[in-house]
Amino acid sequence: MLAQLFYVSKRSPKCSDEDIEKILQISVENNAKKNITGVLLYSKEKFLQCIEGELSHLLALYDKIKLDKRHSEAIMLGLVPVKERNFPSWQMAGKSVDLNKVDFKSQMSAAESEEFENILSGKASSAERVGKIIQLFFR
Ligand SMILES: Cc1cc2nc3c(=O)[nH]c(=O)nc-3n(C[C@H](O)[C@H](O)[C@H](O)COP(=O)(O)O)c2cc1C
Repeated sequence: MLAQLFYVSKRSPKCSDEDIEKILQISVENNAKKNITGVLLYSKEKFLQCIEGELSHLLALYDKIKLDKRHSEAIMLGLVPVKERNFPSWQMAGKSVDLNKVDFKSQMSAAESEEFENILSGKASSAERVGKIIQLFFR
């Protein structure tokens, strides 16, 4: 069954931008083998990731990712069956986001920006909304 999984986590202070490059590289390689796609948003303090693919592969990957020392306190925001993928063309696309940057704010309405901040602090939005908000960064 095709599904999507979203989570937020705290980026370790020891996790450098080079570490993130490495994460993205290995993700592209591994995810291709399992037909997993998705995106990874990151700031200095947080990660927000969407992974999509076969349910059993997502659960196995999430179990592995949770143990990764480059972040902590993963909170699953949603795990839902879907008919189609939001990010079919990316094995794993990474994008850095800075809440204080003007160009960041201009990408979304005040309401969307507030919703995004709530999502980053682990507060509930439906999985569908989380997917929609993440998509704003990739249009
Ligand atoms: C925030 C974050 C997101 C990650 N996303 C993925 C991913 O989508 N796919 C993946 O294979 N590894 C991902 N990783 C890396 C895994 O935790 C792990 O280091 C990597 O898959 C290598 O595992 P292996 O040694 O079993 O091959 C992520 C790590 C972090 C910290």
